[in-house]
Amino acid sequence: MPVIQDTTLWLIVIWFVVISIVAAVMTVRDKRAARSKSRRISEGALFAVALAGGAAIMFVTMGLIRHKTKHMRFMLVLPVMLLLQAVFFYWFNTYTLRTTWLEIEDRRIRNEITIVQLTDLHGASFGRDNARLLSRIARINPDVVLITGDMWTRGADDDGVETAVRLLNDLGEKYPLYVTDGGHDGYISVLIETNRINATFLNYETAELTIGDTAIAIHGVPEKYYRESAAFDLSHHLELDRSVYNVLIAHEARFQEFRELGADLSLVGHTHGGIVRLPLIGTVYHRSGWFIELREMRDMYGFFEDEPGGAKLFISAGLGLHPEPVRLFNRPEVVAIRLKPPR
Ligand SMILES: [Fe+2]
Repeated sequence: MPVIQDTTLWLIVIWFVVISIVAAVMTVRDKRAARSKSRRISEGALFAVALAGGAAIMFVTMGLIRHKTKHMRFMLVLPVMLLLQAVFFYWFNTYTLRTTWLEIEDRRIRNEITIVQLTDLHGASFGRDNARLLSRIARINPDVVLITGDMWTRGADDDGVETAVRLLNDLGEKYPLYVTDGGHDGYISVLIETNRINATFLNYETAELTIGDTAIAIHGVPEKYYRESAAFDLSHHLELDRSVYNVLIAHEARFQEFRELGADLSLVGHTHGGIVRLPLIGTVYHRSGWFIELREMRDMYGFFEDEPGGAKLFISAGLGLHPEPVRLFNRPEVVAIRLKPPR
């Protein structure tokens, strides 16, 4: 399963690892120098390395080898630095945006088309009135923006709804905008209408777009689909023309059904990427259990493809925070898809 990695996050993690090794080595060396009465490492240098990210390991190493443990300056300042670094790491994981790029080649695509997918905003705002999110999208410069549900959290305050409506409004003014709903924002189609937002809610409907020389179809599966009976067949509601590239938007992944219907690329959200993840292990805990990817209970995040050139699915980690106000190794995500003609 190819999972798209967050390079910036990994660079920060590598930085912390390297500076921690440096901090540990310096602490041990200074202890040796103190014993042999040779030249010591200056306190300024130790503090600088601690400040740069080595505080945790330096504090632990000092405790283990009993070095500077009677120096109150170190014993007080290092935990404060450690706390600040933990706060920075939490903030970076939880509130900063990453862009995940997918490149897909298909013979039905005659010119490059850029799609942005946003999902599970849950009323969040990145910068005032989502200025950071909007400028991120402007830099991607998409031909079309697709929303796959949960723009706000049901039962939460009205601010979340207002934030979501404002964002939809701003997006609708700039880009062709297609929307489907999630379990939380069931009345989004009503709000689009009453606020005269320039967006199209796709209620088992298809939007046919021509971008340059390429025709693509966007199909929307509304949230009620997941509550319809088990015998419900999507093909009664949506008909796909296989001569064009078919993009399906929905809230939750039903890869088999979407694939059978004929969707070339299905874009979904809902899982929030597993909320708290660890490298190699994946989701730590989710409503449906502990370590669910390790136990192969369910796919929580990433890009899935049957075979090269076959039907594709992307489960986005989404943007917002729900139910816990935390994300780890799973930053808020803007998905940018580039459809290209084959080389
Ligand atoms: Fe959600």
